[in-house]
Amino acid sequence: METTVIAIDGYASTGKSTLSKRLATNLGFTYVDTGYMFRVISFLILQKNWLNEKGIDQTSLTHALPQLQFSWQSQSTGEKLMAVNGKVYGEELRTAEVSNLVSQVAAIPSVRTHLLNQQRALSKATSVVMDGRDIGTVVFPNAQYKFFLNATPAIRAKRRFEEMQSKDIPGTYEEVLANVIERDRLDSSRAIAPLKKAQDAIEIDTSSLDVEEVFTLLCQHLGKGV
Ligand code: DC
Repeated sequence: METTVIAIDGYASTGKSTLSKRLATNLGFTYVDTGYMFRVISFLILQKNWLNEKGIDQTSLTHALPQLQFSWQSQSTGEKLMAVNGKVYGEELRTAEVSNLVSQVAAIPSVRTHLLNQQRALSKATSVVMDGRDIGTVVFPNAQYKFFLNATPAIRAKRRFEEMQSKDIPGTYEEVLANVIERDRLDSSRAIAPLKKAQDAIEIDTSSLDVEEVFTLLCQHLGKGV
């Protein structure tokens, strides 16, 4: 079966996940949130106390990685949720603690290799909208459609802060802004699969656009091709 990959990369809090989810629903594709995968590993590191003064205990982590299997769990609504060893994670992945650790985790070579294999396996035999940082450059360099979303750090922090407030997740705007800036720096400067626009990706600056307007733009670019 001929499958389609729509890669949506870009900076944190540019609306990637909201837009990708909506596109996937509209097209009948599966939505793959790759940030979730890096967040699950960060959450487990915290839960298992593999973070100490010296940093992340990479020996324990590397040993545990092969046992972390990502799979799809079909809901009665038809929606597919990503499970890790059978468990679906939620808001516990969105805390400031996890957000502050995740870029460090995403720079670890063994983590990236394991997740790259899992991301490709999850997309076999199904058309996907996959969001992340390196989808159009590394995971699926031959994706049929590639987008790269951007917005100013202040706007992205404001969006994230408002989302956290609506979900009662603690944190101040200043802390969120600092996290956004630091994550941009770490994600863009890491040695493996850094955050960057694929040469053939369509870049959209969402600073002055709402979700509806960006969604319309994406659909215009996709046209009748999908
Ligand atoms: O999209 P997000 O904020 O949930 O992503 C969390 C972190 O994971 C982000 O700071 C960078 C990393 N990440 C990555 O390196 N590569 C991906 N494909 C997706 C996320």
